[in-house]
Amino acid sequence: MKTTEIKKDIYWVGAVDWNIRDFHGYTTYKGTTYNAYLVMDEKITLFDTVKREFGKSLLHRIGDIVDPKKIDYIVVNHVEMDHSGALPEMMEIIAPEKVFCSPMGHKALLAHFHRDDWPYEVVEQGRTISLGKRSVQFVETRMLHWPDSMFSYIPEDKLLISSDAFGQHWATSERFDDEVEPVELFQHSAKYYANILLLYSKLVPKLITKVQEMGLVIDMIAPDHGLIWRGRPDKIIGAYAEWSAQRPKNKALIIYDTMWQSTKKMANSILNGLLREGVSVRMLDLKTNHRSDIITEVLDAKALIIGSPTLNNGILPTLADLLSYLKGLKPENKIGAAFGSYGWSGEGVPIINRALEEMKIRLVDPGIKVKYVPTHDDLRLCIALGEKIGRAIKESVG
Ligand code: FEO
Repeated sequence: MKTTEIKKDIYWVGAVDWNIRDFHGYTTYKGTTYNAYLVMDEKITLFDTVKREFGKSLLHRIGDIVDPKKIDYIVVNHVEMDHSGALPEMMEIIAPEKVFCSPMGHKALLAHFHRDDWPYEVVEQGRTISLGKRSVQFVETRMLHWPDSMFSYIPEDKLLISSDAFGQHWATSERFDDEVEPVELFQHSAKYYANILLLYSKLVPKLITKVQEMGLVIDMIAPDHGLIWRGRPDKIIGAYAEWSAQRPKNKALIIYDTMWQSTKKMANSILNGLLREGVSVRMLDLKTNHRSDIITEVLDAKALIIGSPTLNNGILPTLADLLSYLKGLKPENKIGAAFGSYGWSGEGVPIINRALEEMKIRLVDPGIKVKYVPTHDDLRLCIALGEKIGRAIKESVG
């Protein structure tokens, strides 16, 4: 794939990982990219590298533009291995004059690569350096995605190199947002936000305010994954403002697994109750829906209604997996309830209730548990539970 000039003398030199399907627990059905950018100026500068196994690809792309040995600076916006894995190889080949990183980035680089002989230059929030005709201003973006993360802003080009923020896990031959189908682009962007950044949602509006107060004029956002936003970068900034507010819609998720179909029957009756109240519902069987797709649905849902039969005094492992992932991402402004069948001990529903309470998800009902196989009366109770949750959703989202 060819190198792409994204602005005059600024090139995308990253790598496309068409076949990755698991990104630390996130299912990347359509692969991803590791974007790196080369700025040709008096000081030739490489912004980020790529995952280790794509180092040669990065070198080939740089080689289309310039001899890699002529690169003067490397900027490390983020130390996670998908962007720094190839850094040791680049350091050997390029031997840059300076490696720019944030204060936390310096610590993280030392802890990853154990090289105190690299020519680090630690840059604080707001520091500006000159590349010749251009300058680069650094913006610390702690915890978006890691403590070391920062943006690099090039005012002369109105270009924000945004590291993980505003990215998508989507491998494409196209490089720009306006070259792909917009609905799919925003679906990938939402999934990325939900799985990578949801936990840090409180920091997103603060960062948007900081960028506005710094007076950064941006007409292109170049993230480290996926498509580059040009022309209307305000669209993805607006989407981040919306997602980070975690304002739920009139929407419920029924998330369940089942052993001998009893919990599934309960799920279907709860669905009927919700539909009677006019709620938009997603039925998410854990056998066929991946945790990372479920979290994407969680982003704008109000109610999480979670079901599992009791197995070995606990819950099914698929649900334990989901609850662990969900707890880590800390969704806000949700209500919930539990349901499930049991044979003799019946711990499933109380375990789910405790997990929801630990996540500060308000229980609207103590939950329903059914011995072995639900009767018609049991299913009527499940319909009533769906209706009750439906009314609670409408009261809270209007
Ligand atoms: Fe794309 Fe936080 O790494």
